[in-house]
Amino acid sequence: MTMMGLLHSVALSTQFLLLFSSSLFTNCLTLNDSTSTHHHGCHQHENNALLSFKQSFIISKSASYNTFSYPKTCSWIPTTDCCSWDGIECDELTGHVISIDLSSSLLYGSMDANSTLFSLVHLQRLDLSDNDFNHSQIPARMGDLSQLKHLNLSQFGETTLSGEVPTQISHLSNLLSLDLCSYIDPQFDFPLINRLQLKESTLQSLIQNSTRLEQLRLNFVTISSSLPHTLTNLTSLQKLSFRNCELYGEFPVGIFYLPNLTSLNFAENQNLQGALPASIGNLTNLALLALGDNSFHGEIPQSLFRLENLEQLSLSYNFFEGQLALDMFLKLKMLNALGLSVNKLTLFSQNRNVNVTILPPIQSLGLSGCNLAGEVPTWIMNLTTLSSLDLSRNNLQGEIPYFFFRLENLTVLDLSHNTLEGQIELDMLSKLQKLTSLGLGGGNKLYFLEGKNSSNVTFPSQIQTLILGSCNLVHFPNFTQHLQELTDLYLSNNTIKTIPSWLWNKTTLQTLVISNSLLIGEISPSICNLQSLVVLDLSSNNLVGMIPSCLGTFSRSLQVLDLAANKLIGNIPQTYVKGNALQFIDFSSNKLYGQLPRTLVNCRMLEFLDVRHNHFNDSFPFWLGSLPKLKVVFLSDNQFHGAIMCPLKYTFPQLRIIDLSQNGFSTKLTSEIIMCFKSMIISNKRQLDFKDEIYYSENVFLDIDVVSFSMSNKGVVMDYLGGQYLHHMVAIDLSCNKIYGEIPDTMGSLNGLVVLNLSNNMFSGSIPSSFGKLSNLEVLDLSLNNLSGNIPQ
Ligand SMILES: *[C@@H]1O[C@H](CO)[C@@H](O)[C@H](O)[C@H]1NC(C)=O
Ligand SMILES: *[C@@H]1O[C@H](CO)[C@@H](O)[C@H](O)[C@H]1NC(C)=O
Ligand SMILES: *[C@@H]1O[C@H](CO)[C@@H](O)[C@H](O)[C@H]1NC(C)=O
Ligand SMILES: *[C@@H]1O[C@H](CO)[C@@H](O)[C@H](O)[C@H]1NC(C)=O
Ligand SMILES: *[C@@H]1O[C@H](CO)[C@@H](O)[C@H](O)[C@H]1NC(C)=O
Ligand SMILES: *[C@@H]1O[C@H](CO)[C@@H](O)[C@H](O)[C@H]1NC(C)=O
Ligand SMILES: *[C@@H]1O[C@H](CO)[C@@H](O)[C@H](O)[C@H]1NC(C)=O
Ligand SMILES: *[C@@H]1O[C@H](CO)[C@@H](O)[C@H](O)[C@H]1NC(C)=O
Ligand SMILES: *[C@@H]1O[C@H](CO)[C@@H](O)[C@H](O)[C@H]1NC(C)=O
Ligand SMILES: *[C@@H]1O[C@H](CO)[C@@H](O)[C@H](O)[C@H]1NC(C)=O
Ligand SMILES: *[C@@H]1O[C@H](CO)[C@@H](O)[C@H](O)[C@H]1NC(C)=O
Ligand SMILES: *[C@@H]1O[C@H](CO)[C@@H](O)[C@H](O)[C@H]1NC(C)=O
Repeated sequence: MTMMGLLHSVALSTQFLLLFSSSLFTNCLTLNDSTSTHHHGCHQHENNALLSFKQSFIISKSASYNTFSYPKTCSWIPTTDCCSWDGIECDELTGHVISIDLSSSLLYGSMDANSTLFSLVHLQRLDLSDNDFNHSQIPARMGDLSQLKHLNLSQFGETTLSGEVPTQISHLSNLLSLDLCSYIDPQFDFPLINRLQLKESTLQSLIQNSTRLEQLRLNFVTISSSLPHTLTNLTSLQKLSFRNCELYGEFPVGIFYLPNLTSLNFAENQNLQGALPASIGNLTNLALLALGDNSFHGEIPQSLFRLENLEQLSLSYNFFEGQLALDMFLKLKMLNALGLSVNKLTLFSQNRNVNVTILPPIQSLGLSGCNLAGEVPTWIMNLTTLSSLDLSRNNLQGEIPYFFFRLENLTVLDLSHNTLEGQIELDMLSKLQKLTSLGLGGGNKLYFLEGKNSSNVTFPSQIQTLILGSCNLVHFPNFTQHLQELTDLYLSNNTIKTIPSWLWNKTTLQTLVISNSLLIGEISPSICNLQSLVVLDLSSNNLVGMIPSCLGTFSRSLQVLDLAANKLIGNIPQTYVKGNALQFIDFSSNKLYGQLPRTLVNCRMLEFLDVRHNHFNDSFPFWLGSLPKLKVVFLSDNQFHGAIMCPLKYTFPQLRIIDLSQNGFSTKLTSEIIMCFKSMIISNKRQLDFKDEIYYSENVFLDIDVVSFSMSNKGVVMDYLGGQYLHHMVAIDLSCNKIYGEIPDTMGSLNGLVVLNLSNNMFSGSIPSSFGKLSNLEVLDLSLNNLSGNIPQ
C-alpha cells in the first residue's frame, strides 16, 4: 500500500463510477443523409466491407469511457458514399479507404478473426480505441493491413481486448505509431485481469520490421521480459510508453541517445535497472520522463536540469542517489509535475537563493523521503498552483506554517513522518475545500484538536484519505463520522481507547489502521460489515477475547490482516474463502493456540505469515509450501513439534525467510529438508533485487526497514537489523529446537542466504566446507551445538 497507490485510485475511482454506471443500449438515430459531393465514388467492396464490419457490433452506452463518445457508425448508411461517412477517409486519387477512426464510438461486440475489415488493404490508419470488444483477441489478420502507419487499439477502464498480441502485428513494417495501452491504474480496486500479453519474440520482430516507428505505447501490456536492446535501432522514436509491463533487467542505455525523444514512460516495472547518462541533457525536446517505481540507480545528471521543455519528471521509488538543490529546478520552466520521493537523495532547499517569481508552475510535487531538513521552506507558499504536495518522511521541523491552509487548490497534502510540532485545529482545514487526502501522522509531535463543536466545522467533506497517526488523539476523531467518502483512515500511535460503533457502518472504508494505540475490549464482530476493507491493522493494542471468526471470510478484497501484539486468545479464524486476496497475515505476540487451519491454503495470494510468540501446537505446516507467493514464514516461539518435512508438490516456490526458532522441532536435518528451501538458491545476484509491496505494520505507506531477528549468540540476544531491507533478506532460523545430526553439505548450496541461525540445537559433526559458497552470508550462528573439527576456510 503506498500513498501513491491510494491517491491514484482515489483520482480514478470517481471517473470510473461516473462512466461505467449505466449500461443502457441505444440505437442509432436516423440522421439526415449526407449531401456532400465526392470526386470518387466509394469502392463498392469497401463500402460493403465497412457495412458488415459495422453490423458485427451493437451500440452500447457503456462501451466507451470518454465522455465525448458518440456512435460514429450511425452515419454509415448504405445509400451514401462511404468516403463521406463519419470516421472514414478516402484517398483523393484512388478513392480507396485509407483511414478509419472509430475511437470512442460506443461499439460493443467481439472482434471477428475473419472480419471484412481486413479486406481494406489500403488502410493507413486504424483507430478503434475506447470501445468494448468483449475480451476478444486481436485478430492475427491485423497483420494483413500492410500499409498501416497508425494503429490504435488502446482501451480505457476494464480491459476489453485480451490474450496474446498476434505475432503478425510485426508484419506492419510501415507503422509509425502503435498504441495497445490499457489506461487503468493497477492500484485500482478492480485489478486488471485478462491483460494483453506481448511475447518478447513478437516485440523483437516488431522492432526488426517496423523500423520507422515514432510512437510505441504498451502501458499495462504484460511483456514479462527484459527490454530488447534493438529498441535503440528505432532512431525515429519520439514517444515510448511501457508503464507497468512487468519488464525487468537492464534498461538499454541507448534509448537515452535517441535524438527525437519527447516522452519516455517506463514507470512501475519495479525491477527495471539502469542509470541516467549525462547525455540525457541532449534530449532537448523531452517533455515527459517517468521512471518511477523501478530500480534505477546512480546520480541524476546535472544536464537533466537543463531540459527546458520538461513538463513531467518522475523518478520516485528508485535508488537514485546524490545531492540536489532546489534552485536546480528553476530552469525547468515548464515543469508541472516533479516526483523524487523515496530514493537515496538529499535535497537542499536553499530558501534564500530561490527567486520565487520564476518558480515553475508546479501542480504536483513529490518530495517524500528526500532528507529535507530544517523549517518548511517558505517558497512553497508561492507555488499557488499546487494541487498535490508530498513532503512526508523528511526531517522538517518547527510548526506547520499557516500558508499551507491558503493553498486553496490542494487536493493532496502529506506532511507525515517529519518532526513537525504544534497544534492543528480542525477549522484550519476548512479552507482547503478541495482536499481529498491529508497526512499529518507518524513521527510528528502534532496535536490535532477537533474542537468542541466539530459538527459546525465545514471540514472538506470529500476527504477520502485521512492520516492522523501520532497526533496525540485521546479519543476517536468524531468528525470522521460525517465524511461520507472516507476510504482510508490511519490513526496509529495515538492513545485512543475505544472505537465508536458507528464506524462499523462506514462501509466505504478500505483501510483502517489503528495500531499502536490503547484500544481495549474485544474486537466487535460488526467489523465484518466493512466488506470493502483492503487493509485492517489493529496491532499493538490491548485487545482481548477471541478473533471474530468472520475475519477469514468477510471480505474478498482484504489483503492485509494485522492483529499482532494484543492479548487475543483462542483459535485463529478457521475458514478462509477461496479466491480471497490476503497477502499479509500477522497474528504474532498474542495468546493464540490450537493448530494452523489447513484452509489457509485458500490464501493463494499470501506472501507473509507471522504467528510468532503464541501457543500454537502443531506439526510442521508443510502444506503452506503449496502457496505460490509465500515469501515469509515466522513460526518462532510456539509449540510446533515433530519432524520438518516437505513432500513433493509442497515446494515453497518463493520462500525467502523461514523462522522456526524456539519450538519443539526434533528431527535430523536432511538434504531433503534443505531442498524445501531451494528457492534460496540464486543463479544471479540480481534475483535478490526484487521489489515488492508487502505491507509492513507501523508503516503507513512504504516503510520497508523493519525486521529484526533475535539471534541468540552465546546467550546474548541481539537484534539483527543490518540495514537490510526485508525484501532483500534471505534467512533461515532453526535455533532453539532439538534438531540433530550432521549439517548436510547441501546447506552450502543455498547461496542466497544472508542470515543462517542453527544455534542451540543438537547438531554434531563438522561444519561443511560448502559453507564457503555462502557468499551473501552476513550472520552465521552455530553456537550451542555439539559441532567439532575445523572451521572451514
Ligand atoms: C477465416 O476464413 C477462412 C477462409 O475464408 C477460413 O479458412 C478460416 O477457417 C476462417 N477462420 C476463422 C477463425 O473463422
Ligand atoms: C516482417 O514483415 C514481413 C511481411 O511484411 C513478414 O513476412 C516477416 O515475417 C516479418 N519479419 C519478422 C521478423 O517478423
Ligand atoms: C539493430 O541492433 C542490433 C543490436 O543492437 C545490431 O546488431 C543490428 O545491426 C541493428 N540493426 C540495424 C538495422 O541497425
Ligand atoms: C528527428 O526530427 C527531425 C525534425 O522533425 C527530423 O528531421 C529527423 O529526421 C528526425 N530524426 C530521426 C532519426 O528520425
Ligand atoms: C551529448 O551530451 C554529451 C554529454 O553531455 C556530450 O558530450 C555530447 O557531445 C552530446 N552529443 C550530442 C550529439 O550532442
Ligand atoms: C527574479 O526573477 C524576476 C523575473 O525573471 C526578475 O525580474 C528579478 O530580478 C529576479 N530577482 C532576483 C533577486 O534575482
Ligand atoms: C510569495 O507568497 C507570499 C505569501 O503569499 C507573498 O507575500 C509574496 O508576495 C509572494 N512572492 C512572490 C514573488 O510572488
Ligand atoms: C485554483 O484552481 C482554479 C481552477 O483551476 C484556478 O482558476 C485558480 O486560479 C487556482 N488558484 C490558484 C491560486 O492557482
Ligand atoms: C509515536 O508517538 C510518539 C509520541 O507522540 C513518538 O515519540 C513516536 O516516535 C511515535 N512512534 C511512531 C512509530 O511513529
Ligand atoms: C454552531 O451552529 C449552530 C447552528 O448553526 C449555531 O447556533 C452555533 O452558534 C454554532 N456554534 C459555533 C461555536 O459556531
Ligand atoms: C467523541 O464522541 C464521544 C462519544 O460521543 C465523546 O465521549 C468524545 O468526547 C468525543 N470526542 C471528542 C474529541 O469530542
Ligand atoms: C448502523 O446502520 C444500521 C442500519 O442502517 C442502523 O440500524 C444502526 O443503528 C447503525 N448503527 C450505528 C451505531 O449507527
